[in-house]
Amino acid sequence: MSSEKDLKAWVADAITAFANASDLESLKNARLAHTGDKSPISQASRSLGSLPNEERASVGKVIGDAKNEIALALAQRTEDLEAQRDAKVLLEEVVDVTLPALHAHQGGLHPITIIKNEISDFFIAQGYSVAEGPELEAEWLNFDALNIPADHPARTMQDTFFVEPIGSGLVLRTHTSPVQIRTMLENEPPIYVICPGRTFRADELDATHTPVFHQVEGLVVDRGITMAHLKGTLDLFAQKMFGDTAITRLRPSFFPFTEPSAEVDVFFNGRWIEWGGCGMVNTKVLAACGVDSEIYSGFAFGMGLERTLMVRHGIKDMHDIVEGDLRFSRAFGVGL
Ligand code: DAH
Repeated sequence: MSSEKDLKAWVADAITAFANASDLESLKNARLAHTGDKSPISQASRSLGSLPNEERASVGKVIGDAKNEIALALAQRTEDLEAQRDAKVLLEEVVDVTLPALHAHQGGLHPITIIKNEISDFFIAQGYSVAEGPELEAEWLNFDALNIPADHPARTMQDTFFVEPIGSGLVLRTHTSPVQIRTMLENEPPIYVICPGRTFRADELDATHTPVFHQVEGLVVDRGITMAHLKGTLDLFAQKMFGDTAITRLRPSFFPFTEPSAEVDVFFNGRWIEWGGCGMVNTKVLAACGVDSEIYSGFAFGMGLERTLMVRHGIKDMHDIVEGDLRFSRAFGVGL
């Protein structure tokens, strides 16, 4: 049977082990070793039953006292270690609410895309469709079908990006007008389309030019279409772009694909500004597309999107539009 000396040693061992446990995990191990089923004190408790009655009460009390002492030491050490752990967690997981927030950039539309969508929405509301064509275009569609002759200055390397090998018959489209031809070849009148898109010319980037730019083309082919329809459409379009008081004026001009042809000016901010080109679709172009000009007539117009944006917002330098500086886009309310 265990002596009182043994009990004292077990209590002392347990207290030392608890004190040496540096965290809750090792304290758990110490608890199992010193209070668990196999610990000497538990074994002593279990052997109480085999003692004669008269000894059982007094030995039981001594063992009970020893167990209480161990339990108390364990409770105190647990409390200490829990407090230590909590303090550590508070320190490690501290949040500095004064740090600047991480801002996720959402991305947004470029002002050219915004104006393109604005124009598309406007014409869709008038019953037009939006047509698209390829940027790498057949020379025939970009020039010949539009009545632009082989010796036209636009057809020199100086103005047009031709695609190798020479004689491939492909160019980077110099305007959106070939989409007119594609539309007429693929559809019977009545035709009411706009064709916004990217266009390319062999220009250096400077304050007013860029080799990659955007145009929007308009094409209407129907019975009885006159220049009055063209003028009315341009006025509405101008008002949509430049405000309710905007009006347009047509100045006689020349384009191979329209006859008669005109330059469109818009009156904006107290002065006339060149905006684009327009005219009645040349009967030669209608014929090239298999449209009977005895029955149908049409008008067409073409504007630069960069130019429209620059005029409307007083943008002085094309670099601002093409360089992608977010400060430029933000000025258009783009949430970046
Ligand atoms: N395609 C012409 C250009 O890029 C613009 C143009 C002028 C388009 C007159 C038209 C038009 O549809 O009728 O300079």
